[in-house]
Amino acid sequence: MEIDKRAYKSIKEKFSKIIYKKAIVNKKDLPNKEEIITLTYKNKFVAKALYNPKSAIIRILTTENEDIDYDFFYKRIKKAKIYREDILNYKNTYRWIYAEADIAGIIFDKYNDIGVMQLTSKLIEREYLKDIIDIFFNLSDLKTIYVKRGKKGERIKHKVFGNREKFETIIYEGEAKFIVNAKGHKTGFFLDQRENRLLLERFIKEGYRVLDICCYTGGFSVHAALKGAYVVGVDLSKKALEVAEENMEINNIPKDRYEFIEGNAFKVMEELIEDGEKFDVVILDPPAFAQKEEDVKRALKGYSALNYLGMKLAEKLFVTCSCSHHIDRELFKKTVFSSAYRAGKELFIIDYRGQAPDHPVTVGNKHLEYLKCLFAYINKIFN
Ligand SMILES: C[S@@+](CC[C@H](N)C(=O)[O-])C[C@H]1O[C@@H](n2cnc3c(N)ncnc32)[C@H](O)[C@@H]1O
Repeated sequence: MEIDKRAYKSIKEKFSKIIYKKAIVNKKDLPNKEEIITLTYKNKFVAKALYNPKSAIIRILTTENEDIDYDFFYKRIKKAKIYREDILNYKNTYRWIYAEADIAGIIFDKYNDIGVMQLTSKLIEREYLKDIIDIFFNLSDLKTIYVKRGKKGERIKHKVFGNREKFETIIYEGEAKFIVNAKGHKTGFFLDQRENRLLLERFIKEGYRVLDICCYTGGFSVHAALKGAYVVGVDLSKKALEVAEENMEINNIPKDRYEFIEGNAFKVMEELIEDGEKFDVVILDPPAFAQKEEDVKRALKGYSALNYLGMKLAEKLFVTCSCSHHIDRELFKKTVFSSAYRAGKELFIIDYRGQAPDHPVTVGNKHLEYLKCLFAYINKIFN
């Protein structure tokens, strides 16, 4: 399938792992079902790629002229493991496969002996899943692999391989322990925030009051509580909060040192402001407000409002995150700053971070970069 010069250059010179459908010279050549297609430029091999007629994006599988077979997946999965274990020094728990950075169409998290895979390609599921599962078992101590497929809104079919009884495990993040259930949100736990949660501990002092907005199963909350803070966690999901309580318990945090509120972050924060509550630290880690490009304007309004409310409640440290990849780092920072001005807070930037390195952003693939996490100190409060 011939591609245009621009796409050729972006694959060859910028190591881009995606191209757009519009780069195909003769659109009528495109198959009407999901297929692995060979991309050429001036009739010479360029890459093999995953093509899905429902998507505007074509995802590169390889730029080598190789077969897509057991060996291909074996080499990739092994290489990905070496990066996580030998370079990053992660032991039992890490994101093993991060889509195009490792293998297009697959996301795979390992939590001790439980693996959770998210598949976005029916073709991979149909043609290669058995091989891939076999490779994961062969290369690790995994006992169970839980496979989820489909995007939001689609009917999701799950498959289980290996031990069908065990879906839960306890992982360590520094001193903190967390229960991870393979059946939870996405792949069960937000490993992308691991380094940011660990950094939080550095700034927490005994007796601090910490507000953890969109706390899920208490990721930031547990770290703060372990450092002696009193924590208030807020989330919409009752199920997630039940696990958050359990996480506090397995970390031996006394019951009078935390409170979880089930509710809408915006509403809860408005009420806290009305009640005159203040927190030494406020953490905001909402879901992606912009799922697609068209959502950006609306999403920015959401971030702006959320950050304004959070900023009003914060007195010392403000940690604010966005996992919308359609909103880039500069734009998010600008939005946070304008909320700070409106709330009358002068900020010092302590650090502006991203996702954990087992979610690698490969050069030339900005689309793999999504998480932003800004740590700021509130230097001055203007009324
Ligand atoms: C990215 S996750 C947070 C991850 C968490 N900070 C951690 O470290 O594990 C986003 C969370 O926001 C929650 N959520 C989504 N919309 C919300 C809302 N309007 N108010 C409160 N929580 C919300 C979801 O239930 C989910 O648990």
